Amino acid sequence: MAAEHRLIENVVKALGRVAIDVGKGRPVDASMLSTAVEFLRLYADTLHHGKEETFFFPVLVKRGVPAKGCPIEGLNHEHEKGRVLVQALAEHTSAYQRGQPEAPEALRQTLRGLLDLYQSHIWKEDAMVFPMADRILTADDQQELSAQFVVVDRAVGLDTIARLEGFARSLSSTALAPRPSQPAACHCGG
Ligand SMILES: [Fe+2]
Ligand SMILES: [Fe+2]
Repeated sequence: MAAEHRLIENVVKALGRVAIDVGKGRPVDASMLSTAVEFLRLYADTLHHGKEETFFFPVLVKRGVPAKGCPIEGLNHEHEKGRVLVQALAEHTSAYQRGQPEAPEALRQTLRGLLDLYQSHIWKEDAMVFPMADRILTADDQQELSAQFVVVDRAVGLDTIARLEGFARSLSSTALAPRPSQPAACHCGG
């Protein structure tokens, strides 16, 4: 799961760099954006969020984490926000390709929104949820999750996963925005 986060981060950081280019009026590579949409739909959402929503969050609930409130409800809500932004990215990319005058600014805002949402979301899971899971899940839980994740991988398709991971790795991983320094509290998405 953490390895998937690194690749998702790679893609959204690249989108953040495209946002800067669009803001400066530089031409952007629409085919890269189309592949990023595919990556975010299939890899970040169907595969990664699928594992979290179908198996990982439910086992946390089984071990006593509340299903409502922080952190699970907030994280699920952020997955929803991500879907809306990815749909907007697909639409604004196509409008940009058609040369619509308002498309660059809409595209820039959506790219920036995706970077901000995913960086913060991934940070919450890495810094708070995964360490909590390591404390409360049993060895059997972990083993069962691993087996369930393999089923999700197969459903998405190992070739598709390898192709999308190759795309994510092909993007330079230059950091754009620093991560929050510490979790002052449980900041759930609103
Ligand atoms: Fe998540
Ligand atoms: Fe995640």
